[in-house]
Amino acid sequence: MSTLTPTADVVESPFDVASLARLANELFGSLSTGSAPSLQPTASAGGLNVPANPLPPGLPSGPLPQPTTTQFAGFGAAAPGLNLVPSGPDQAAALVRPSPARAPHALAGNGVPDVLLTSVPGIDGRAGSQLLGVPQAITPPARQAAAPEGYYFLEPAAGTAPQQPSLYVLDLQRHPGPHGHHAGEVPNKQALQGRRQPFDVHAIRRDFPILSERVNGRQLVWFDNAATTQKPRAVIDRLTYFYEHENSNIHRAAHTLAARATDAYEAARKTVAQFVNARSADEVIFVRGATEAINLVANTWGEQHVGAGDEIVVSHLEHHANIVPWQQLAARKGAHLRVIPVDDTGQVILSEAMKLIGPKTRLLAVTQVSNALGTVVPVRELVDIAQRHGVTTLVDGAQSVSHLAVDVQAIGCDFFIFSGHKIFGPTGIGAVVGRKDVLDAIPPWQGGGNMIADVTFERTVFQPAPMKFEAGTGNIADAAGLGAALDYVNHIGLHHIARYEHDLLAYATEALRPIPGVRLVGTAADKASVLSFVLAGHETSAVGAALAEEGIAVRSGHHCAQPILRRFGLEATVRPSFAFYNTCDEIDHFIAVVRRLARA
Ligand code: ALA
Repeated sequence: MSTLTPTADVVESPFDVASLARLANELFGSLSTGSAPSLQPTASAGGLNVPANPLPPGLPSGPLPQPTTTQFAGFGAAAPGLNLVPSGPDQAAALVRPSPARAPHALAGNGVPDVLLTSVPGIDGRAGSQLLGVPQAITPPARQAAAPEGYYFLEPAAGTAPQQPSLYVLDLQRHPGPHGHHAGEVPNKQALQGRRQPFDVHAIRRDFPILSERVNGRQLVWFDNAATTQKPRAVIDRLTYFYEHENSNIHRAAHTLAARATDAYEAARKTVAQFVNARSADEVIFVRGATEAINLVANTWGEQHVGAGDEIVVSHLEHHANIVPWQQLAARKGAHLRVIPVDDTGQVILSEAMKLIGPKTRLLAVTQVSNALGTVVPVRELVDIAQRHGVTTLVDGAQSVSHLAVDVQAIGCDFFIFSGHKIFGPTGIGAVVGRKDVLDAIPPWQGGGNMIADVTFERTVFQPAPMKFEAGTGNIADAAGLGAALDYVNHIGLHHIARYEHDLLAYATEALRPIPGVRLVGTAADKASVLSFVLAGHETSAVGAALAEEGIAVRSGHHCAQPILRRFGLEATVRPSFAFYNTCDEIDHFIAVVRRLARA
């Protein structure tokens, strides 16, 4: 270890880089992933042969495919696990020497130099996860050849009897809870670590470069996933690839890059449609995010269908983005907002919804998961109630898409909306998924280029949906990035993610609840990701700051959901929110800080 101790700003590699590159080539050559880029000696950087024009993981090597409107579907779909293969000179060089951007900011609390921590994962991926003290991912060769996700999923060792399904292995018949898990089951850490897990969280973490970041001299713990999620290398590389090889405006020019960009954009639309089980890609409108999505519906469908005396029903759990546009619409039209109350656990009261939704109701707009409390709302039941009265429905999936498998046809809603950045995609991209017949019948919102079929000074003929809702140049690169994010999530599987996160949340809840002075806010039986709380004697901002000093990022404040916090007599909470790359060790760290504050 002493040979790896940094002695100056520039850390010299103890290895002969050329030999290491050769070894890496041999090793990658033996991994039959099918799409691993090879390290061809086409350029030289500091003695290390690197490809002159590296492809991001998941892209086919060889000549670029000729773009057609269908050929690029799935393009850039980097599979989880390809972080184990360097995707370019940076990553290859990181095997032997961290780049300046990854240079240590401060020494780790345990005295181990950062350079070791940041350089180990690059090597460790090839050695398996034993260096990190987690079980080795055992991948049969056949699986490796067929699907690179083998790196993530833990298989029984050869010769061992098949394991019985456990909490981590989804078995909907055995575990028929709302999302395939036992609402009340509380795993302890030893049991969790000893149990068969659906994926190797350490392998997944290596896909997210920012998770190696150090803040305030500590390892970053990202518990602010409800605000935004971190991005896997597959998404980062997809954006780079777009700007390096595809960048153009779309739909108009008849040249190669326009065709590539159009294909990338439309492939992403198709991916979104499949991800939420829309009937077709024509049901997907790209927007900036969830807020713009709801405003689009309010300003198109709402303008057309809501009139004086009509009622719009929301729940008490809504984010401001699912309140304010409806208030504005109601004010313009002389309509009224009605609110489904929640019980003391933070769950909507269905019997009250039944009383509220009636002949005057034009729209039901509800969140699927509360961003402030984590409550999973029974949207299917609510949509059912609404449909009995012929009421149009919108489901806000901003907080649900990264935690639960969504099927818009099964929910039965007219509109489903979400943001890309909450599901490991870029900011500035999101979607309205609307029933085609509903979209066809409503007017456009913004006018301009791209959304027209023909313009004279007398009149304009609009494109059909979804184009008529996409005026101007869209966020093309980020749409492609969103597609890569959804492909990434698909490779891991939302059923695995839901299962793992459920255990994390249960573990964190049971550790936090007994701490003197802690009050949990939002204790519904069915929850996802979020653990809101207050600590007696401490401002929420002070708790947030104390956690931040330890490298732990949480949101403290009103979370853009003031009505629901006020329902619980509060103006703010501390809100850790988890994703599938978080671990029990990170939760232990967080709990230790809260305990220390509670004692103070
Ligand atoms: N809606 C985001 C949150 O809940 C910003 O933090």
